Amino acid sequence: MSVKMTFLGHAGFLFDDGTHQVAIDPWLTGNPVATMKPADVKVGHIVVTHGHGDHFGDVEAIAKENSATVYCAYEVMEYLNEKGYEKVQPGNTGGKLVGDFGWVAFTQAFHSSSFNGRYMGQPMGAVLHMGGRTIYHCGDTGIFGDMKLLGEIYKPDVALIPVGDRFTMGPELGKMAAEMIGAKVAIPIHYKTFPGMLADDISAFAPAGIEVRPLAPGESWTCA
Ligand code: NI
Ligand code: MN
Repeated sequence: MSVKMTFLGHAGFLFDDGTHQVAIDPWLTGNPVATMKPADVKVGHIVVTHGHGDHFGDVEAIAKENSATVYCAYEVMEYLNEKGYEKVQPGNTGGKLVGDFGWVAFTQAFHSSSFNGRYMGQPMGAVLHMGGRTIYHCGDTGIFGDMKLLGEIYKPDVALIPVGDRFTMGPELGKMAAEMIGAKVAIPIHYKTFPGMLADDISAFAPAGIEVRPLAPGESWTCA
């Protein structure tokens, strides 16, 4: 069992276990580092961590194009329903949602969540289980001590950790987060996208005993 992960740049990923295709935060329109276009995204499921444009911006269009099921906060569902899209599974922090691909569990994230000035519910992280593998996407968040607890509960194989600073953890705190979560592979996200705003140099993201595997936008890696 394995999952092929493709980095969309910034915080977006595609996951493919050979049967099911799932996206998390597939933001491409206006993404300065993206190598793909929204029309290139072919998925049956989309997970949304929060409503900010750099995560949610393309979700409505990609969902409609693919007739994909969207897993998101209740308030994000209300927004999509108002836009005429009903294929949505709402959830909130702490809950697990089961789909034909596996399951997704929402975790806390210390951040905010709005879209064009509208409140979009709690910001969250997402633990995705498919293809026999478990991936923890932290969402946009500061560090918190219960990352250790989440590691114990979900035992993720891979952690996707924001390290760009300013809006999330920087590389030093991301290192501590990776060590608390304890996944054997850590992939840095949410950095470099906006020069001068997000960190370029993340050399301090060097968690002890954990493989750091940065992916270039458009690059794939298989978690076997
Ligand atoms: Ni955000
Ligand atoms: Mn963000």
